[in-house]
Amino acid sequence: MDKTALFKITYGLYLAAVEYEGERCGCIINTASQATDTPCRILVTMQKRNHTTELVMRKKSMTVSALAISCPTEVIRHFGFQSGRDTDKFADTAYRTDGEGNPYIAEHVTAYYSCRVMQSIDLDTHMLFICDVEEAENLSAEAALTYGDYRAAKNGRVSEMPVESEKKTVKKYVCPICHYVYDGDIPFEDLPDSYVCPICKQPKSIFQMIEE
Ligand SMILES: Cc1cc2nc3c(=O)[nH]c(=O)nc-3n(C[C@H](O)[C@H](O)[C@H](O)COP(=O)(O)O)c2cc1C
Repeated sequence: MDKTALFKITYGLYLAAVEYEGERCGCIINTASQATDTPCRILVTMQKRNHTTELVMRKKSMTVSALAISCPTEVIRHFGFQSGRDTDKFADTAYRTDGEGNPYIAEHVTAYYSCRVMQSIDLDTHMLFICDVEEAENLSAEAALTYGDYRAAKNGRVSEMPVESEKKTVKKYVCPICHYVYDGDIPFEDLPDSYVCPICKQPKSIFQMIEE
């Protein structure tokens, strides 16, 4: 099976966030999608190892915010490359709360949804949460960021991506499990064999080279 074929399923990028007994946590996810319109339900899949997932399982509610096209990659790194087990990711971040006290950021996102978990399904490595959307608000008129936009952007804001005619073919190394694209300063080939995907911890050996 060529798992890169699955890269052609399009996704957005979201911040899922929760407050449980005074602790706030949030992580970046791409696996959110609308399931039904009436009642308004969305599906959210999150790795069990994420601290956010643990808190959502306890609280049974969360916010899901659609990142805006202008969202700086630092925001994605802040919420997606470190765990709330080690740091309070909301400590220096301005945020608002929904009716359940769950945080959401008003900057760099284009809409947010306040979600109540109606069913939790154990998918071994992940939890699938089937959620009723209880509040929804547009926070800006900006377009939502897609995972494709994020993968195409190397640094800075995705809205500063080079136009088609300026693009050069570049080699990229992609984790076939979580789609993380290596973007470190050290050439991928020079990384030690002990290198693991910073998102899903898969070994360097399974990364796939693609030319874009
Ligand atoms: C672009 C991007 C997409 C991600 N997509 C997901 C996802 O769909 N599901 C998931 O569980 N984690 C995803 N992650 C990983 C989590 O955001 C990351 O592991 C985070 O550090 C977990 O933080 P926590 O332990 O505070 O919850 C993604 C990260 C990035 C950078």
